[in-house]
Amino acid sequence: MTQFNDTELTAAVIQSFDKTPDPRTRFLLQELVKSLHDYVRRTDLTFGEWEVAIDFLTRTGQKCTPIRQEFILLSDVLGVSMLVDAVNHREREGATQTTVLGPFYVGEHPVMAHGADISPGLTGERMFVQSRVTDLDGKPLAGVPVDIWHADDDGFYDSQKASYATQGPSSRARFITDSDGRLFFRTILPCSYPIPTDGPVGDLVLKTGRHPMRPAHVHFLVVAPGYEPLITHVFIEGDEYLDSDVVFGVKDDLIATVEKRSDAFMPDGQPATGPWHLMTYNFRMKPGEGTVPQPMMPEKAEA
Ligand code: BEZ
Ligand code: FE
Repeated sequence: MTQFNDTELTAAVIQSFDKTPDPRTRFLLQELVKSLHDYVRRTDLTFGEWEVAIDFLTRTGQKCTPIRQEFILLSDVLGVSMLVDAVNHREREGATQTTVLGPFYVGEHPVMAHGADISPGLTGERMFVQSRVTDLDGKPLAGVPVDIWHADDDGFYDSQKASYATQGPSSRARFITDSDGRLFFRTILPCSYPIPTDGPVGDLVLKTGRHPMRPAHVHFLVVAPGYEPLITHVFIEGDEYLDSDVVFGVKDDLIATVEKRSDAFMPDGQPATGPWHLMTYNFRMKPGEGTVPQPMMPEKAEA
């Protein structure tokens, strides 16, 4: 039996993947071994610490369900999600910036008519959102589906609440851009909220003295044929967590000024029932292609 010192061991494990048929998979595995082995060597990792890591990863996996992705959350709080975003979007001159998808792209996004209220009956300050989807030259893109989702005034997404099973989506919808690339809708002003802290990842964040908060934002997913799918948020200017987002997802270009308004009519000519906010944000799409994320779906009950 061959015996290895610790650097020979690394070389042997790397070599053990030499016959991996797909070259990209081989490269990824061999680089992963290099980085993991370097980490163990640099830290002189103890058996106890290795056990803690294994236990943490085990609990992370056990926390996952069809609509709860604790591993994505881990990737998010370690900044890995934003790093993957960065290396995949190095050239975006003139195009809208991207950010994390997050774990709440779930369930159904019902198609709604322009002007619809996507948060009927919810408490919160009213907001009118108007937007336009164009290419890099400003040419409007018509017929483009735009998915929207955001947290409620209590800091939770619809899918985090028991009522989702009976009442379905709220603060979650799809609009199809009109012939001028426009969409508009009514909702409530979202607030900053904590990432889920009832699992191992939230535990890690809290026990390391970090706060778990994300600044207030609305998620947008714009999928136009012939263009890179745009996964982004629009953040609300002035939020106290813009400089310390727990998932490092804020980019300056994604911060919108949300105006306080008291006009009697909203931009679509419909009467306002009180003071309201106006969010205006336009999306510029980059030509290309890419993978369109699919919403995580709640498990259907067995028939
Ligand atoms: C979110 O924006 O919904 C989110 C993103 C990353 C981690 C947790 C939540
Ligand atoms: Fe979010």
